[in-house]
Amino acid sequence: MKSLKEESKMNKDTISVIDNRTGRQVELPIIQPSQGPAVIDIGTLYKELGYFTYDPGFLATASCQSEITYIDGDEGILQYCGYPIEQLAEKSSFIEVAYLMLKGELPKPDELKKFEDIIVHHSMLNESLKNFFHSFYHDAHPMAIMVGVVGSLSAFYHDSTDISKADHREIAAHRMIAKMPTIAAASYKHSIGEPLVYPKNDLSYTGNLLRMMFSSPCEEYEVNPIAEKALDLIFMLHIDHEQNASTSTVRLAGSSGANPFACISSGITALWGPAHGGANEAVLSVLKEIADVSRIPKYLEKAKNKNDPFRLMGFGHRVYKNYDPRARIIRDMCHKVLGELGSANDPLFELALRLEEIALKDDYFIQRKLYPNVDFYSGLIYRAIGVPSNMFTVMFAIARTVGWVAQWTEMISDSNQRIGRPRQLYVGPEKRNYVSPDKR
Ligand code: SDX
Repeated sequence: MKSLKEESKMNKDTISVIDNRTGRQVELPIIQPSQGPAVIDIGTLYKELGYFTYDPGFLATASCQSEITYIDGDEGILQYCGYPIEQLAEKSSFIEVAYLMLKGELPKPDELKKFEDIIVHHSMLNESLKNFFHSFYHDAHPMAIMVGVVGSLSAFYHDSTDISKADHREIAAHRMIAKMPTIAAASYKHSIGEPLVYPKNDLSYTGNLLRMMFSSPCEEYEVNPIAEKALDLIFMLHIDHEQNASTSTVRLAGSSGANPFACISSGITALWGPAHGGANEAVLSVLKEIADVSRIPKYLEKAKNKNDPFRLMGFGHRVYKNYDPRARIIRDMCHKVLGELGSANDPLFELALRLEEIALKDDYFIQRKLYPNVDFYSGLIYRAIGVPSNMFTVMFAIARTVGWVAQWTEMISDSNQRIGRPRQLYVGPEKRNYVSPDKR
């Protein structure tokens, strides 16, 4: 990756910032992208003019440079390493896109086979982790178990936590991607009081997950190919998404030199929030609460009412001010998969389609460019597969682990990388002297 400092020196594009109070001026370099908006390098602003920039929620702040994912929110474009999501969804697979994320290029057949073997052979967990699962209360939310177990992995895999070594980073990346389905399935099995199931090396990534979640010691289990393919596509669509909240959390944790397992655990924590990856679970609750098409107008009014905390979960996006391309693919897939899985007449799917249709004609949603996002339809497919709603965000975390790991690896090897340490606009009390208790 090119050093930004060299890049800034190379091009002469600058933007002038003039402090109208003092007349002082600074020329800030403009750095051109390969696609999307250029950026203003504000590195000298504080030194030259004594100002910080202020951008709560980082709506207009590029926190890093990256070669992995490109999003154009206005046009509803999503590319992984340059490949449009629509083409990958039609022609590729989750494991092939995982390779693309890590290596930046699509694999040759032998490279893909080798990568699949590596992932398969890292899918087991250290046996003593079983006690950890069983130490959680029976009704612990699976995301709570995921945060705890993933964060503890550095206690088991010391031989891949020296992040200064490229081979350690690669093994940790492979271990994380490979073990997430096993940890997720174990979290689920613990929550239903059933024995944990070991992975089988002759199954696909999603086939293994389905078997580890739904097989029972009492009978043979056949992976449903429709569910296997549907999960593979949904996981591909969730694999990475630029500098979203959880990925930014992983990068910030990683910038301090924390071990990769702890960084991924921080990403899982951030993803759990209902404004982020927790939305897919919340969408199903909203659909169940609305329950009937006749109640849609009432809930749209609630969503518009600033005094009502109700939001139309699965709608809106910080970047997409057009239809989320992932939601479009999943919605189209819904018809097919629900039909093949025998849930074609799922009343919640019909309700979701009507809700989308009515909301997209409503001025409030039109003016704010609120469209269905990736979470709006995914839960309906998970439900048709038999995944309980408290496992929906876990599914998201399995897929996004690839993106977190790829972005973490990119950050660690970025020569510009330093510990992330934002500043603030201080609006607290000015300097004052201590007052003894008897004088307060
Ligand atoms: C994901 O960043 C990513 O890329 C995330 C993600 C990924 O792959 O990593 O794409 C995955 O997290 C998708 C988003 C899932 N979250 C939800 O579906 C939760 C519901 N959506 C909202 O909470 C909201 O839209 C966010 C959090 C997604 C975006 O919030 P922003 O960008 O901070 O926008 P905002 O809250 O300032 O909303 C702008 C306006 C406000 O109204 P006004 O103050 O302008 O009058 O739109 C309104 C909001 O009240 N609004 C909604 C709404 N979303 C925004 N009103 C009702 N229902 C909603 N869902």
